[in-house]
Amino acid sequence: MNKLKSLLAVCCMAAVSSVDAQTLTLNLDKADRTVSPTLYGLMTEEINYAYEGGLYTQLLRDPTMRELQEMGRGQGQRPRVRTAPKPRSWVPTDTLSASCRIANRQMPVRKTTLNIAPETVRHNSLVIETTKDGEGVINKGFWGIAAAPNTKYTGSFFIHTPGVVTVGLKSAKDDKVLAQQTIAVSGDSWQQKDFTLQVGDAISETTNAVFFITFAKAGKYEISYTTLFPASKRGTKFAGLRDDLMDMMTAMHPTFLRFPGGNYLEGNRFSERFNWKNTVGPLSERPGHQCPWGYWSTDGMGLLEFLTWTEKIGAEPILGVFAGYVLQGDYVEGEALEPFIKDALDEIEYVIGGPQTKWGAQRVKDGHPEPFRLQYVEIGNEDFFDRSGSYSRRFQQFYEAIKAKYPQLQIISTIDEKALRSGSDDPANLKVDMIDEHYYRNTEGMYKAAWQYDSYDRNGPKIFCGEWASREGGPTTNLNAALGDAAWMTCMERNSDILVASCYAPLFVNVSQDGGQKKYPGMQWESDLIGYDAFSAYGSPSYYAQCMFAGNLGDKVVPITAADIPDMHYGNGELPQLYYVATRDTQSGTVYLKIVNGGGTAVKVRLSAQGGKLRTSKSELISLKSAKPDDTNTIDNPKNIVPQTSKCKIKNGGTITVAPYSINVYVIK
Ligand code: AHR
Repeated sequence: MNKLKSLLAVCCMAAVSSVDAQTLTLNLDKADRTVSPTLYGLMTEEINYAYEGGLYTQLLRDPTMRELQEMGRGQGQRPRVRTAPKPRSWVPTDTLSASCRIANRQMPVRKTTLNIAPETVRHNSLVIETTKDGEGVINKGFWGIAAAPNTKYTGSFFIHTPGVVTVGLKSAKDDKVLAQQTIAVSGDSWQQKDFTLQVGDAISETTNAVFFITFAKAGKYEISYTTLFPASKRGTKFAGLRDDLMDMMTAMHPTFLRFPGGNYLEGNRFSERFNWKNTVGPLSERPGHQCPWGYWSTDGMGLLEFLTWTEKIGAEPILGVFAGYVLQGDYVEGEALEPFIKDALDEIEYVIGGPQTKWGAQRVKDGHPEPFRLQYVEIGNEDFFDRSGSYSRRFQQFYEAIKAKYPQLQIISTIDEKALRSGSDDPANLKVDMIDEHYYRNTEGMYKAAWQYDSYDRNGPKIFCGEWASREGGPTTNLNAALGDAAWMTCMERNSDILVASCYAPLFVNVSQDGGQKKYPGMQWESDLIGYDAFSAYGSPSYYAQCMFAGNLGDKVVPITAADIPDMHYGNGELPQLYYVATRDTQSGTVYLKIVNGGGTAVKVRLSAQGGKLRTSKSELISLKSAKPDDTNTIDNPKNIVPQTSKCKIKNGGTITVAPYSINVYVIK
């Protein structure tokens, strides 16, 4: 592979002694590289209770009553319990006198009405036996249920035993009923009952609530699939998405959303892959599946929800399709892969097909008449872990089939980038539009890699950095991680002629604490971007760094000549103290200069421009900083570190002082 050392890399790395000390010269006349319009986006999967107990606003934990049966599994493990006598998140109202007993049982098999998934739906049911009138079960949600004053909640439950049923919300603190509805059930066939709960002025602020379902008369009852949703201004036809998280994502200016994974796309085994056909249609008819991060996914966040989510944040999808390889290492290829290729083609048709096509028509029926935007399809996830060597063949099969039907689509490969570039992964005739590279490093690793892409071959496949993060701090990252992230973003931005798209992972973590053995029972992966519990959400310093970078971006890269940038002692050696990049908006002329100071001392930098002027009036500095690099934000102190905007004077040849441990965006208008 011909490795070109770019002129830019040389300019950025070398300390040119003939220039003034600590100088950044912006070469405005050499701003030739185009910034990719899809440079900054988002990546998502079901991990850390990202949807269940997160973005997907269904508020009851284990609505399909399967949780215990499938609990206790980590990645790659077999289920410890196959049948479970007792549910975990559904608890009798009367635990003292045992006048109420409950048990899990498999729900009678029902055919889907959708007729698109050949499988049958097998939610479990809850058998409730009460010996006292007015008893039943409660559900505490995902470490709490947020009941807000003057708010409507809607839901439904399945039942096949006659009686008078009351559903409602009560305060977790004092059992005060906040809203309830009584429903008469007649007949003994399974039926779905809808309800509405209007929380009024009984509470003045958002309160932790418990959902209850009780029976007027003592007896034996059986219920199944039970849900509760808040009314949401951003609700989709099928399910709501949490407003605060949607707003936070929108503030990141994402241009795309990579979904559905991550490991979540693959699953531990074939039956646990993201089988998109099981995720569309009525919620109650989605079978759900075990997620590789150790808990049950109801698939309430299905393909259509991912797509509408993407649309609502103003982004386009990067659609990952299952590629015949699962996390436990099993794979299929050749003829055995064909059904999965057909699934992928059907999925693309669901996304962009017209109403005359089978799957386009299904999308119309599901409530979205217009085709979605789509230019990128990714084949698998991290198939560089597939040691069988089958990926290049599997990829080729997908590539040819997709290109034959949709030549306009760009196909992303998850082949081992180094193997491909070195020629060791059988790439003989492999056609790859784009390669997905993943980097999880510590901050030192990010600093060291801050010029990585400057040396990439400009004529090779384009790059998608589909997962990256500096992993420091937890559950959400600290300022030091944000410094590493920002240094890495200077690299990606400077090279966005070949680095077409990038997204951080993981995006979400539920940071609830319940005092149990695990401090954060909702977290499987430490160091995440956005944290939340049932009541509020907050952004890590890394989150704010991304808002700053993506929200202040030109369309051309301005090469920077640097001189005498100081070193800092970091880890076991010396590393540059400053990391920087500049872009310019061609239309407005605004220059966005980003400087990261990873060290604990302020650095004076002389700024100058070649081939143009740096106009000084109306310039702004947006800065994210703190006294200590391990400072952070938490659910209780969510705004400890947030960007501050101030006016600043930029003069051609003048100096600026870059604060210690800081990420800075100079908006030079
Ligand atoms: O982001 C967490 C995991 O890291 C993803 O699921 C996987 O793709 C990667 O290994």
